[in-house]
Amino acid sequence: MQREHLVAPSMLAANFLDLRQAVEMVNFSDADWLHLDVMDGRFVPNISYGLPVIKDVSAICKKPMDVHPMILEPEKYIERFRDAGADVITVHAEACDHLHRTVQQIKDTGAKAGVALNPHTPVSLLEDILEDLNLICVMSVNPGFGGQKFIYRSLAKIRRLRQMLTERNVDAYIEVDGGIGMQNAEAVLKAGADVLVAGSSVYKAEDPVEAVRKLKEVKAEVFDF
Ligand code: DX5
Ligand code: ZN
Repeated sequence: MQREHLVAPSMLAANFLDLRQAVEMVNFSDADWLHLDVMDGRFVPNISYGLPVIKDVSAICKKPMDVHPMILEPEKYIERFRDAGADVITVHAEACDHLHRTVQQIKDTGAKAGVALNPHTPVSLLEDILEDLNLICVMSVNPGFGGQKFIYRSLAKIRRLRQMLTERNVDAYIEVDGGIGMQNAEAVLKAGADVLVAGSSVYKAEDPVEAVRKLKEVKAEVFDF
């Protein structure tokens, strides 16, 4: 079975002095979503950007905005992320004491609800909440930084998750985030991913539009469970 996949460039790897250009690249290219990484220096050991930047970006972004808060207590900011223009909000399971409530909170704003799993967090954690999710983000690096190496054991995790979704007939995206480029995109898609997040391999490429086009063109037969 051949599935249509989405490509979501991560603005974290863009030149912050040229954010307009970074967003226009997404508008102009085959990119499906713009991925926005929010870091608080607490949940992850790095600080990126926050609400005012997302809000300004939303004024010129013509594609859906996929916001990935890597922050503690994300429930405090859900409505504000939505007001700033988020179409998808993906919180970390590890950062939520009441994940079910936070997922409902995201849905109540009208945004799509996603849950991200760190490399050490098993997909079984989502067993009792799967039907409520619009997206599951498998982190294929430890969150906090762009440009890290893809953790290859994530492939087995993506496969397990695809199998769970198929068995339970749940229609949620599997997004994979971290270290993705042409060297592994086919394997990630074959394992069952729907959304490829790509920071460095797009924005650090000589021609980001072309880098997106290539990621979009990768063909992968998906094993049907
Ligand atoms: C990592 C972020 C990623 C990051 C991906 O903490 O969640 O979205 O920007 O960047 P690359 O593709 O360079 O690994
Ligand atoms: Zn991310």
